[in-house]
Amino acid sequence: MYTKLWAVDKEEPLKHSYPQIMEAASLLRESEVVAFPTETVYGLGANALSDQAVLKIFEAKGRPSDNPLIVHISKMEQLTELVDNINVPESARQLMEAFWPGPLTLVLPKKEGVSQYVTAGLNTLAIRMPDHPVARALIETSGLPLAAPSANLSGKPSPTTAQHVEEDLIHRIAGIVDGGATGVGLESTVVDCTTETPMILRPGGVTKEELEKVVGKVDEDPALFSQEEQHKPKSPGMKYTHYAPVAPVYLVEGSASFMEQTINDAQRKGQKVGLLATEETIGQMQTTEITAISCGTQKDLATVASQLYDGLRAFNATEVDVIFSETFQRTGVGAAIMNRLEKAAGHKFIKE
Ligand code: TXA
Ligand code: MG
Repeated sequence: MYTKLWAVDKEEPLKHSYPQIMEAASLLRESEVVAFPTETVYGLGANALSDQAVLKIFEAKGRPSDNPLIVHISKMEQLTELVDNINVPESARQLMEAFWPGPLTLVLPKKEGVSQYVTAGLNTLAIRMPDHPVARALIETSGLPLAAPSANLSGKPSPTTAQHVEEDLIHRIAGIVDGGATGVGLESTVVDCTTETPMILRPGGVTKEELEKVVGKVDEDPALFSQEEQHKPKSPGMKYTHYAPVAPVYLVEGSASFMEQTINDAQRKGQKVGLLATEETIGQMQTTEITAISCGTQKDLATVASQLYDGLRAFNATEVDVIFSETFQRTGVGAAIMNRLEKAAGHKFIKE
């Protein structure tokens, strides 16, 4: 399949890139699949009301059919055609008011008529209003709610640039709208609002601390902290290995000198070592024979979030046999960073 590429203005797409947005929107209206930037990661969009369109997403990504999609809207009126409005709890309304548009996905009771493929047969629907001018322009111009998972091949790190999308999906989708690098860099926070107390199913751009300021107590899916069989995650997507580069990743927990020692041990065994770490940690390494990729600064974990996936992907262009990654405190956005790193590493830790 020929994949059309459109470079668009990311601040005012409708003013400066109208023909490109129109063309992408008409392909969406013809049930084609088009990738576009959001403030978190690039999404792979299709008409959420069309079975045929939604099935193309699963095919292009190689996504397991039991993993439901998030539907993206640009205005509140679109909610009524998607969710069972009467049964939307007050807490969900408060969260929409506080965080939409933004990196927060709410799981709500779904309305009859939404494609069963979007929800993978569940009676709930995940929905969010992205805060990115290009995503919003595309939703508005197409006039459609867009089902959109992250625009990567299943199992790969989510794309934060149009080039990442191209690497994974060229010739598999109708088009890619290039609006430059995304901002947050990690996917939205998924919160289940169908339970008595709202529950975080996937940590992300909006932190637990921020949610609790608005709705009081928020629970976390116990499966987020356990690899035991009996803790089946409520968010089907969380059970898959994810975000993984080709070489195995190990999370190294301890001081900078312990990191150095871990690297030296591997080198003595003849391994080529990759290091994913903040500039502070990289600055403390004496070893020169490593491929070090910097992911931001310890002073501001938002920089780590925004550079993490690009860093993980970058190792695929190197010859490393093993990747050691720095670890972070699980507070604020650190919770989402550690959740993604643990998945990339398949929960393999090396502790001091
Ligand atoms: O930031 C994001 O959320 C990005 C951008 C493109 O918006 N999208 C994204 O989609 O990360 P995806 O498909 O990669 O992840 C969606 C997650 C999966 O873990 C899925 O299982 C979960 O949301 N999910 C979707 N519908 C659900 C539902 N009804 N109940 C529970 N979890 C659901
Ligand atoms: Mg994904």
